[in-house]
Amino acid sequence: MDKEDIKRLNNDLMLKEPYEIISYAIKNFPGINISFSGAEDVVLIDMAIRTNSDFNVFTLDTGRLHPETYRFLDRVREHYGIKIDVMFPRYTEVERLASDKGFFSFYKDSHNECCRIRKVEPLKRRLSGINAWITGQRHDQNPGTRANIPIVQMDPTFFDDRLVKFNPLANWTLKQVWLYILENKVPYNELHDRGYISIGCEPCTKSINPGEHERDGRWWWESNAKKECGLHFGNIKQI
Ligand code: ADX
Ligand code: SF4
Repeated sequence: MDKEDIKRLNNDLMLKEPYEIISYAIKNFPGINISFSGAEDVVLIDMAIRTNSDFNVFTLDTGRLHPETYRFLDRVREHYGIKIDVMFPRYTEVERLASDKGFFSFYKDSHNECCRIRKVEPLKRRLSGINAWITGQRHDQNPGTRANIPIVQMDPTFFDDRLVKFNPLANWTLKQVWLYILENKVPYNELHDRGYISIGCEPCTKSINPGEHERDGRWWWESNAKKECGLHFGNIKQI
């Protein structure tokens, strides 16, 4: 499929329900990967299981996740009886960063270097071997960078015109995600019971207060930055 085919497909899928979108994606892109870390992604997995078709799941273990997140990852693995491929960063890069700058350099010189090493490089490595992936991005998750993400797009982040990216929950609100989780008894990260909404790495995530946006709990010391760690850098490229 080329860029124009993807645009047409996006028009066809734009008003469809997430289950129909996931079903289409899994049936038409064998070997497709769901990238899994948070609440939205278990909804994707739950729907994908219901299609009774094959799909792959991976997670990026930065080495800095909350203990609760590791327990959650294993609960999901057991609940659905699925394999979750774990991508680690290149150890030589992590060794260099930690030896040169310590464990919290991101508070001083921004999250970019650490995210590049611990998240972006492993993601790029994973995506280099496949032709399509599915993410849990939503429009209302990040008004600054995600308000216009399509349901399906040619992912502009790492490669030119070869990787298809589905965002089946793009039109869903946070509330719709949680209604689905509660109605379908989908496992979730226990941190959500303690005021966390958007959960990333432990040193870069905090719980939020009523009235704050979910994104305020991520990289809060960089409040003016366009908050993308690089996994979805194409969102910024396209603004
Ligand atoms: S981030 O870029 O700011 O970290 P966010 O936490 O909002 O992303 O999650 C958006 C989507 O990116 C998730 O639904 C998931 O598909 C993917 N994602 C984020 N973090 C990870 C991770 N550690 N492993 C796998 N996928 C991830
Ligand atoms: Fe490093 Fe924080 Fe980025 Fe995690 S979110 S990779 S700890 S800068």
